[in-house]
Amino acid sequence: MPRKLLTALAALLIVNISLSAVSDPSRIIPAPVGYSVSGAIYTLRPDGSDIRVVFGDKEFEASVSDLEKFAREEAYEVIIGKKGVTIKALTEKGAFRGRQTVEMLRLIDDDVKHCRIFDYPRFRHRGIMIDESRSFKGKDFILKQIDALALLRMNVMHLHLTDAAGWRLQIDAYPALTGHVAWRKGETYHEWEGMGYPFSNAEDPEAYGGFYTKDDIREIVAYAAERYIDIIPEIEMPGHSMEVNRAYPEISCVGKDGKPRPFSWDLCVGNDGTLKFLETVLEEVIELFPYEYIHIGGDEAVKKDWGECVNCRRRMEEEGMKDVHELQGYLVRHIEKFLRERGRTVIGWDEIVDTGLPEQATVMSWRGTPGGIKAASMGHDVIMSPNTYVYLDYYQDLIRKEPKAVGHMQSLRHVYGYDPLEGIDSEYHHHILGLQGNLWCELIPYPAHAEYMLYPRAFAIAEIGWTPQENREFFGFRERCLQLIQVFRSLGYSTFDLFNESLKAQTGRLSFNDPAFRL
Ligand code: ACM
Ligand code: ZN
Repeated sequence: MPRKLLTALAALLIVNISLSAVSDPSRIIPAPVGYSVSGAIYTLRPDGSDIRVVFGDKEFEASVSDLEKFAREEAYEVIIGKKGVTIKALTEKGAFRGRQTVEMLRLIDDDVKHCRIFDYPRFRHRGIMIDESRSFKGKDFILKQIDALALLRMNVMHLHLTDAAGWRLQIDAYPALTGHVAWRKGETYHEWEGMGYPFSNAEDPEAYGGFYTKDDIREIVAYAAERYIDIIPEIEMPGHSMEVNRAYPEISCVGKDGKPRPFSWDLCVGNDGTLKFLETVLEEVIELFPYEYIHIGGDEAVKKDWGECVNCRRRMEEEGMKDVHELQGYLVRHIEKFLRERGRTVIGWDEIVDTGLPEQATVMSWRGTPGGIKAASMGHDVIMSPNTYVYLDYYQDLIRKEPKAVGHMQSLRHVYGYDPLEGIDSEYHHHILGLQGNLWCELIPYPAHAEYMLYPRAFAIAEIGWTPQENREFFGFRERCLQLIQVFRSLGYSTFDLFNESLKAQTGRLSFNDPAFRL
């Protein structure tokens, strides 16, 4: 194509996208359940002083009476006319979702077509997980992402707070977790790994790291609650736990030489001190995080040291276990009971399905969808976060264009193509609580990079979670993403450059393992 023509086409594209002279409900993300529009224009006030909220409207109540409880609570109606904005809802939560819809309309353009929007979510869990262990991005970053989730009408943020690369939560009973193993040599995960996993301490000015104090967590939880967003803390066990063994080697597995193994990847399940450690930590976690759910990890335990450790072997003998895998089930069931007795519900990664699911555990399916499908068919609740669709540390475009990321490409189109009910028998649909995008940060050391990986793919996760499947259509969605990216950039978020997305990623024709995206 001649260069001039290309330039003209590019200009046309930019004009088209920035020509948002008027806002209307067809532009928002997630797309609403239903709306109608008329030609007249109303100019929204930036401070929201033209919004009137009405609870207890009989007509609205009747219109949502058939919905499930979670959907009724978040349902709203927005009416924009010449006198301003009316929001109808049953609850403050519903009114807040309505306010966020009005705010998104305003951010696109404060001139809005007179309209009526009727809306409620498809799923009750619409979340994002952020890995704060491998890189610590801190409170301001988390509060900023909570704002983004609120705007997208999402309702869960899951914080991965502990892992080998750093413990990130103040626990009063175990000060070495934050005085020692929240600080490491090596700014990035792979530098640290290459150096042989050295930890340092809080006083070392060269150390990389940090942690959330209890006051930080109270502030984050309260900030999220004002936006009707729940925070799920994740305390990993028994794998991904080397930092605990380094801080407290006396509870680690014992090697053949009779010495502790502080570099062990897994917690020692044979040592009663480990159970005491976890229970004490979880007591403090329960006090800080009010949401019903507590995530206890459960993924990728190596289990190698268990077979050699005298304590683990004793536990296996006492409990009549035939192999080391049963140690994982033992631990998960023990902790699930401990939390259930305190009124909480455990979430675990789908490995917990393999070792005897405890009574009430909710499963987070990450190794694709089979673990979630199996757990739902066994009568357990499931949150879908398959690495085949919604892993936000994976490439979003061709390798040569992108910062180093994980293996396969999950472009915006690929992510958007996911339906959490895919492959689930209809009799088990009620067990699928929703979905979540996961941002693991081994390769994502800095906040701006994290946002680049999150947006716009989090827009897709928001829409999958909220919008009825029959209302979803990729090309219109992509147009809306181009607009919302401009809004996000104006609010100070770093986003992926969807304007320059490769055709390969746009057409989404790359199969999951297609070598073409490596070109
Ligand atoms: C995971 O990605 N290991 C849960
Ligand atoms: Zn052991």
